[in-house]
Amino acid sequence: MDTDQLVRVFTEYFEERGHRRITGSTLLPPPGDQVLFTTSGMHPLTPYLEGRPHPLGRRLVNLQRCLRTTDLDEVGDRTHLTVFEMLGSWSLGDYEGPQSLDWGYGLLTDGFGVDPGRLHVTVFGGDDRVGPDTGSLELWQDRGVPVELTVEDNWWSNGPTGPCGPDSEIFLWTGDTPPESTPTRDDRWVEVWNHVMMRHRRLDDGSLVPLPQRNVDTGLGLERLSSLLQGRSSVFECDVFDPWRRLLPPLWRLDEPSLRLVGDHLRSSVVVIGDGVRPSTTGRGYVLRRLVRRVLTVLRRDDPRRGLGDLPDELVRHTLDRFRQDVPTETVRQVLLDEERRFDRLLDRGRRLLSRPRFRGPLGEDDLHYLHDTHGLPRDLVLDLRSR
Ligand code: SER
Repeated sequence: MDTDQLVRVFTEYFEERGHRRITGSTLLPPPGDQVLFTTSGMHPLTPYLEGRPHPLGRRLVNLQRCLRTTDLDEVGDRTHLTVFEMLGSWSLGDYEGPQSLDWGYGLLTDGFGVDPGRLHVTVFGGDDRVGPDTGSLELWQDRGVPVELTVEDNWWSNGPTGPCGPDSEIFLWTGDTPPESTPTRDDRWVEVWNHVMMRHRRLDDGSLVPLPQRNVDTGLGLERLSSLLQGRSSVFECDVFDPWRRLLPPLWRLDEPSLRLVGDHLRSSVVVIGDGVRPSTTGRGYVLRRLVRRVLTVLRRDDPRRGLGDLPDELVRHTLDRFRQDVPTETVRQVLLDEERRFDRLLDRGRRLLSRPRFRGPLGEDDLHYLHDTHGLPRDLVLDLRSR
């Protein structure tokens, strides 16, 4: 099943069960949201989870692009991407968690053909404020799926305050042996789908109050499930990365971890630029800057002549199309090339400064602060220049 088919099967399954398809939003969350980027399909729906009636009703389904910087250091492993797409379904004060889990189980096993014996789930075991999620527990016991109870791992929130609740996560076994152990003890269990019983709101003082309605918010990482259904060993090998795997290796000879990082960060940069963000020293623009500069640092490590001018247009086009962004490829290329020029100027300045007698010996914290505050040279860049 290719990725587009997966999206179709998912949305049709929920449409057949009374859900209306909504159009995904950009990576920029609505004003007032606490995060820089949309990290989950629920962001654009926050007002409706809090009780405002949605024009399309109480059952929704969609595909939302997301960006997670919390996972930045994990990019390059089998399952994490910086920008990814999330399939989601919502009950806005309509049906309850067990119904959502039951449909989820049906879709995974009947719709996607996952062997039920490769599933494990986790369920909220309760803490001193909220009791155990017995509804989810009973549903899974009824279906014969093994359950692990946890506390922190099964509580989902968007940020320190706002809508939150207990969740039940569905894991798929990816090992070569028969399934063993549990999701928190063995990372061959890979999380594929999270169902959040979103019925609380956390206030500034940390206390929990009930939301005006009992919602369910689910999210399924598209590239992750796609790679698993396609029997690939990492997200970078699912079909959406085919053009990247075809065009990057002949262009830049990179080891596998660097290839994954460069592919992920360039693809993410294209999407972020496509949503209107430009590199800067703060906020979203700084995230973009870090992504581009990390790519350049990896590329130049082996060959200083490498540059983003060589990035094939086809990869920019393929990414913009995949994320349904109506932006000329030339605009994206221009932003990348401008940032590359800025980075090169900074490198030149850094090299010149570091050759001064004052900086020839070991660098102390004072030196690093001075180079950053007075000359705009980030700590990482200085340390990188020194290590060459
Ligand atoms: N909000 C939950 C998550 O991001 C489910 O969509 O995991």
